[in-house]
Amino acid sequence: MSAPHQNPFEALGGEDGVVALVDRFYELMDTLPEAATIRAMHKEDLALIRDKLATFLIGWMGGPQRYNEKFGRVIIPLAHRPFDIGPAERDAWLLCMQRALEDRDVDPTWIELIMQPMRQMADMCMTRSA
Ligand code: HEM
Repeated sequence: MSAPHQNPFEALGGEDGVVALVDRFYELMDTLPEAATIRAMHKEDLALIRDKLATFLIGWMGGPQRYNEKFGRVIIPLAHRPFDIGPAERDAWLLCMQRALEDRDVDPTWIELIMQPMRQMADMCMTRSA
C-alpha cells in the first residue's frame, strides 16, 4: 500500500502535476464564458503568468520555494491592487481553479483541502467588496 500524500504538492503529483494544473487553469480562463472578464485583465500572452502562478503554487503547496529568486518578492494581495476584482471576478477565478483541480487525478478530499485556503487568498485579492 502506498503512503498517504503529505501535502497538496505531493497529492497533485509534484512539479509536473502543479504545472499541468496551472496550464489547465489558464486554458479554462481562456475559454469559459464566466471567466471572460478576468481573462481580459491578463495579457494576451499567458506564458509569463503561467510560469509565475505555477512557481508560486509549487512553493505554496509544499514543494520547493523558488518564486522569490525567480521573480522577486511578491505579496499576493498587493499584486492585485491594480485590478478591478469584486465577488464575481473572485468567483470566476475560483471556478477555473476548482474545475482545473477536478480535471486532475486527485482525491476530492484534497480538492477541498486545497480550495479552502485558496478561497481565503482569493478573498484577499479583491479590490472592491461588491
Ligand atoms: C481573486 C481573483 C483573482 C484575479 C481576478 C486575479 C488576476 C490577476 C491578474 C490580472 C494578474 C496580472 C497578470 C499579468 O501580469 O498578466 C495576476 C497576477 C498574479 N496572481 Fe492573481 N488573480 C486572482 C487571484 C489570485 C490568487 C488567489 C492567487 C494565488 C493563489 C494569485 C496569484 C497571482 C500571482 C502569483 C500573480 C503574479 C504577480 C506578479 O506578477 O507580481 N492570484 N492575477
